[in-house]
Order: sequence, then structure tokens, then C-alpha cells
Amino acid sequence: VNSNQDQPDDGAVLRVAPPAQRSAGYDVIVRAGSLNAIGTVAAVVAPADRYAVLAPASVAALYGNAALGSLAEAGLGAELFTFADGEQQKTRQTWAELTDAMLERRLGRDSCIIALGGGVAGDIAGFVAATYMRGVPVLQVPTTLLAMLDAAVGGKTGIDTAAGKNLVGAFHPPAAVIMDPLVLRTLPVEELRSGVAEAIKHGAILDLAYFRWIEANADAILAADPAALQRLVARSVGLKARIVAEDPFEEGIRAILNFGHTVGHALERESGYSMRHGYAVAAGMAAEAGIGEAVGVTERGTAAQLATVLQRFGLPAAPGAGGAAASALLDGMRLDKKARRGLPRMTLLRAIGECAPDSTGSWTHEVPAETVVACLQGDARGTDAV
Ligand SMILES: NC(=O)c1ccc[n+]([C@@H]2O[C@H](COP(=O)([O-])OP(=O)(O)OC[C@H]3O[C@@H](n4cnc5c(N)ncnc54)[C@H](O)[C@@H]3O)[C@@H](O)[C@H]2O)c1
Ligand SMILES: [Zn+2]
Repeated sequence: VNSNQDQPDDGAVLRVAPPAQRSAGYDVIVRAGSLNAIGTVAAVVAPADRYAVLAPASVAALYGNAALGSLAEAGLGAELFTFADGEQQKTRQTWAELTDAMLERRLGRDSCIIALGGGVAGDIAGFVAATYMRGVPVLQVPTTLLAMLDAAVGGKTGIDTAAGKNLVGAFHPPAAVIMDPLVLRTLPVEELRSGVAEAIKHGAILDLAYFRWIEANADAILAADPAALQRLVARSVGLKARIVAEDPFEEGIRAILNFGHTVGHALERESGYSMRHGYAVAAGMAAEAGIGEAVGVTERGTAAQLATVLQRFGLPAAPGAGGAAASALLDGMRLDKKARRGLPRMTLLRAIGECAPDSTGSWTHEVPAETVVACLQGDARGTDAV
């Protein structure tokens, strides 16, 4: 603030200079065995007095020691804070418990948080980091495929409330992200499939060749073959990072990463969040491709191509909603953060590998409620590919 002592205090407009760029960018390390490099990476990108490893109980049991061991080996003081597993735990209460536990242990402003676990851990630990002492650095160490491909890169953190998912949170970019494809070998296959849905999304919105590669390598990916997963993670993260760098605060092109998510989030909500994120996104992509075809934006046959690949991975390829369910889903979409004027908005493909802006240049399209409901019900207008 530029204040001038000589001026009378009779009302003034003072200008606060724009804040410095909140993040100068960060490295994402994708390498087998990199879990053992947490300490050396932390020492370089986030030097701190103490490190708090925040992990759900299941992940702490599997990889907590490796993380703590790596930090100790680098001569860094660290302690582990755990919380119960599951989306139901992504709440203000867990945020408060973790924050209080850290305060009790007298971790100061010169601390750093290591978020170890799936997307739930990344979101909660990231939000604790965003708010602890007004913000301490966070190192994201995602251990699910979904968290590697989606949650850990981009800086979004937050919690769920009774009114909906992720409605409270902050942008808090990590100091670095460490992805070790070897940890995916202990991941239940449904969780692996759930993550693949996001990779299919990246191919569908940006990269036809990648889309084809995923389809051709389905067996190796589902078998958690380390080389296949290394390529999958690196390629997807590269695509997502490019978009996030272009639009860090989701004001434009970043919206395309929400392909499949307008319907997907509504499906998750309707299921009381018992449906896995990737499964909901898979069904959502199939539905939104159908909606795109119905409104004439998406090339005919795109929904069918998507469905083939989704089925190859055992993912849902249709929302499977009955009449009542379809209008309940539509109500859910009206609550979506992208909705405007009470109408759902969604990213639409032009074809596999490419998104289509609307007539105003926006990367989300307003779509008529009737079309959405018809496509959710599998109405012929939405699904008669070719
Ligand atoms: N911030 C973002 O940009 C963003 C993006 C996408 C999703 N998300 C959030 O991510 C969450 C979903 O993430 P998720 O699918 O990773 O779920 P999750 O975090 O609940 O993890 C799924 C399950 O796998 C277990 N697990 C994790 N790693 C394991 C491993 N290596 N081996 C064995 N078990 C392991 C977990 O303990 C958990 O039970 C949602 O809350 C969603 O809102 C956030
Ligand atoms: Zn997602």
C-alpha cells in the first residue's frame, strides 16, 4: 500500500500492488523408486525445520516407513500424522484434527507437509498446508493412479461439506510432486481402473495418439506393468501440466480438464459418493460425448469410440440412469461450479483428441436441459452413433 502521511484522513482509495506470482512452478518427478528420494527432494525444494507426513492409515501402513526413512536419511526431522481412510473423511473435522495435532506438536511456520496417499490425502493435506500458519509448503506424494494423473498436479486442495464436494478449499501449488509408479502395485485393481479413466480423458481432450496407445496397451496397464504405468503417468502428467501452466487459476482453457466431470460429479453425488471418481468420470465422458453429438458439436461416432475403450478397461460406458434418476442428476449439475444461470455447462469434444470451444470462445458449453436428460436416459437422439 502506498500511503501518504501528509494527506488528510478524509477517505481515500489506496492501491495494493498485485501479489507476486504465487508459484514459480514445480517439478513433477515420475520415476520407479522415487519414494526413497522424498528426503533429498524435500531438502532441496522445501527446506524446513520439521516435516509432517500426513497419510491415511492404510497408506501409512504400506509406505509411511519408507517416507520417514527417506527423510531421516537426508537428515530431516519428520513425524507421521494419520487419519482414517475414505472420502467420508475429507471433512472440516479431519482438517481440524490434523491441524490441531500439528499445533500440539508445535510445528512452526518453518515446517513442510508431505501429503502421502490418494486424492483424498492430497486434498486434505494440501488444504492443511494452505491454511497452517497461513500456509506452509506441501510436497505431494500421490500413491493412487488417480491422484498421480489428476489430483496431485494443479494445486487444488479442499474438503467436502454437506452441501457438496470440494466446496471449501484453496489453490496451493506444491513445492514438488513425487510419483513412484512402483507403489501402484499394491493398489486394488478398481482403483487402477478408476485412474485410467483420467488418462483416457487426457487422450480424448488433447491427444488422439495417446488415446490409441492406452487402448493398445490395456493389458499391460491393467497388470500394473511398471514400464506401461511409467509411460502412462508421464504422458498424462505432461498433458495436464501443459494446460495447468497455461491457466493456473482455471479461468479459461483449463476447463477442458473437466470433460466428463459435469455429469461425473452429479453421478458421484447421486451415489452418495460410493461411486469411485474415475468410474463416475468414465460414465460422464460417455454421456457428455453423447450430448455433444446430440447438439451437433461432437463428431458422430465419438461416443462409440470412447465407449469401446472404457469397456476395454472394465469402466462404465453409460450413465445408466432411469427417468427419475436423470432429472435428479440434472439438478445436481445445476449445482456444479461451472453452471451459469442455473443451466449446466460442460466441455464438449470436437472429436477424439480435440475439444470444441462454444460460439463465444468459452471452453464450456451451455446445453439444453432436455438434451442432457435425454442423453442420460440413453435416448436415441443422444446415442445413435453414426
Ligand atoms: N485436487 C484435485 O485436483 C483433484 C482431482 C481429482 C480428484 N480429487 C479428489 O481425489 C479424491 C479421490 O482420490 P483417489 O481416487 O485417489 O481416492 P482415495 O484417496 O480415497 O484412495 C483410494 C483408496 O486407495 C488406498 N490407497 C492409496 N494408495 C494406495 C496404494 N499405493 N496401495 C494400496 N492402497 C492405496 C487409499 O487408502 C484409499 O482407501 C476425491 O476426493 C477427489 O475429489 C482431487
Ligand atoms: Zn477427475
